[in-house]
Amino acid sequence: MINARVTGLRNVELGVPDLDKAAAFYRNVWGLEDVVSTGDTLHLRGTGAEHHVLTLRQRPKATFLGVHFAAANHAAVNKLHDQAKAHGATITSAPGALPRDEGGGYGFAMTSPEGQPVFVSSDVDRLDVGRQDHSRPTKLTHVVLNSSKTDAELAFFIEALGFRHSDSTDMMEFVRCTSDHHSLALVRTEGPSINHMAYEMTDIDGLMRGAGRMKQNGFNVEWGLGRHGPGNNVFTYFVEPNGFVTEYTTDVEQVDEATYTKHDAEFWRNFPGRPCRWGMAGHPSNRLKVAMAGGLIGEADADARCEDVMAKTLAR
Ligand SMILES: [Fe+2]
Repeated sequence: MINARVTGLRNVELGVPDLDKAAAFYRNVWGLEDVVSTGDTLHLRGTGAEHHVLTLRQRPKATFLGVHFAAANHAAVNKLHDQAKAHGATITSAPGALPRDEGGGYGFAMTSPEGQPVFVSSDVDRLDVGRQDHSRPTKLTHVVLNSSKTDAELAFFIEALGFRHSDSTDMMEFVRCTSDHHSLALVRTEGPSINHMAYEMTDIDGLMRGAGRMKQNGFNVEWGLGRHGPGNNVFTYFVEPNGFVTEYTTDVEQVDEATYTKHDAEFWRNFPGRPCRWGMAGHPSNRLKVAMAGGLIGEADADARCEDVMAKTLAR
């Protein structure tokens, strides 16, 4: 029985080899704003109230350092901890107070069955709504992880953290923790690694203005503009300076818990508007394929080996 559920997606942590360069990109081009800098770490916010939607940490090489989810209160954090522990998760930091100068709150850390770092917290400071500019992201809206133990990962997120299963395709599993169709998805492939992270834009015009700013700064749209099958969200994908894939997205399907029915792989196999409901988005660039594979493959054999990865990702 599931006693507690996470209630939202907060932020991702990325290790980057050049903190100043990464910060300049996310600040000036991607459209986030600095919140607090502590030593080798910078936290950045979107235009929404979440304290930070991205954490950059100076590291020798680009590394995915984890994903943070929200819980309702201290009691929920404790319940989620117990639930995760009972499920077999490895607890790496027991529930406790979080650094006051980084938004505070109460939380714990663990690793998923495949070793992905996962954090849960409550009572983190909320910010006044930020500078309103619809060309800038409001929040982190989903994270997609590459997984070689997908069934175990899926069970962990559903049974230990209380996610609900929104959709399955042959190669992907979509789960939600809010009314957004998915806050997390898993790709059945080599893992563990991060496939991509997606930031929400207020509307399509804002998304296009953001994409235009990226283009003006030398970042090609590597896939899109298009509208996905599962989730119905509008997408544009980019490769950021550290090699991570980052997405501007908008208009994701809002799930009504009372009426929503999950679709299975058979449904999506026969869905006519796939991978783009508009028939607009062609294939992603080879560069994107390599980056989505999460750095697990080298440039030399990237095309051959990542065909499989991307066929799976695109099958959504
Ligand atoms: Fe996405």
